[in-house]
Amino acid sequence: MIISASTDYRAAAQRKLPPFLFHYADGGAYAEHTLRRNVADLSDIELRQRVLKNMSELDLSTELFGEKMSMPVGLAPVGLTGMFARRGEVQAAKAAAAKGLPFTLSTVSVCPIEEVAPAIDRPMWFQLYVLKDRGFMKNALERAKAAGCSTLVFTVDMPVPGARYRDAHSGMSGPNAALRRMLQAMTHPQWAWDVGLMGKPHDLGNISAYRGNPTGLADYIGWLGANFDPSISWKDLEWIRDFWDGPMVIKGILDPEDARDAVTFGADGIIVSNHGGRQLDGVLSSARALPAIADAVKGDLKILADSGIRTGLDVVRMLALGADTVLLGRAFLYALAAAGGAGVSNLLDLIEKEMRVAMVLTGAKSIAEITPDLLVKER
Ligand SMILES: Cc1cc2nc3c(=O)[nH]c(=O)nc-3n(C[C@H](O)[C@H](O)[C@H](O)COP(=O)(O)O)c2cc1C
Repeated sequence: MIISASTDYRAAAQRKLPPFLFHYADGGAYAEHTLRRNVADLSDIELRQRVLKNMSELDLSTELFGEKMSMPVGLAPVGLTGMFARRGEVQAAKAAAAKGLPFTLSTVSVCPIEEVAPAIDRPMWFQLYVLKDRGFMKNALERAKAAGCSTLVFTVDMPVPGARYRDAHSGMSGPNAALRRMLQAMTHPQWAWDVGLMGKPHDLGNISAYRGNPTGLADYIGWLGANFDPSISWKDLEWIRDFWDGPMVIKGILDPEDARDAVTFGADGIIVSNHGGRQLDGVLSSARALPAIADAVKGDLKILADSGIRTGLDVVRMLALGADTVLLGRAFLYALAAAGGAGVSNLLDLIEKEMRVAMVLTGAKSIAEITPDLLVKER
């Protein structure tokens, strides 16, 4: 039974998924210190309780880059979402759009841009990694534009892939990975039928459309591994500007100096993020990094934040720390794995209900009223 957005979908996803997929979603880099701090630091944020302020009318709606949102929440780009539910990107995008919220398609999605964008009645966001193969990047931008994507999310915190030891232990990578994944699928027949068999093709759709038909997951991983680009600098982003004239958001900012550089570059927004604790273990949680970044750039560009958000209360906390909008990563992925698009819809309803309770009891009638004033100051 799903009662709490924060824990019940995770448990249900673990029951349903072959372990290699559950741990790919659930795990982080090295000892997973930052992964844990993302959640723990956010839940340590205390809010001021306010009473008797006539909170009968609440307005959760907001606007970002000219797009209306029913609440300040979007879905983060998550690679391989189509392995968690049958054509998972389409299901998740539909659930988000039905709720009036943006969905971000990952570069390394299973379903290609052309399959997801036409399935929803609001513009999709597209996330791009910096890859050495600039021909691929140009091709992906052209296709995203042709499909009507509105916002480009440019992820800059993966010049090298982080080391995720859980993946090697679970069979996602490492010795005999293909055999181990097959054995795990056999012991999870519901997933094996619904996604493993009926959810094909299991390509990385955006990449196969560019490269022809690679031979399988190992080929993709090999191509990707060889294509991450540690030479990336702000100058390379100028190059992207020639191919993208819509809003551009830089994802993976954790330091106020980088946030200022994003303003200088002319970015429309940043995403304060440590990639959900999947890149460098030991960096600050988003909740701890956010206030200094907001001090440095609030008002100069839009501040989005992710990493560790599991509940509607967490959304209110992130907004109080300085975010304009937040993105959900694992929270929606667990719900999708557990119950498909209906799970994501239900999760978003739960998040909204939790936000409403938090807003009533902090005295914030609208999103604009969720400010640092809601935070309990150091005692
Ligand atoms: C399984 C998984 C795959 C991800 N794939 C991508 C990706 O392809 N591109 C990207 O920019 N971020 C990716 N991320 C990071 C998310 O966009 C987001 O920053 C992160 O999940 C936020 O943390 P949370 O999961 O604690 O909410 C991925 C995260 C997870 C959990």
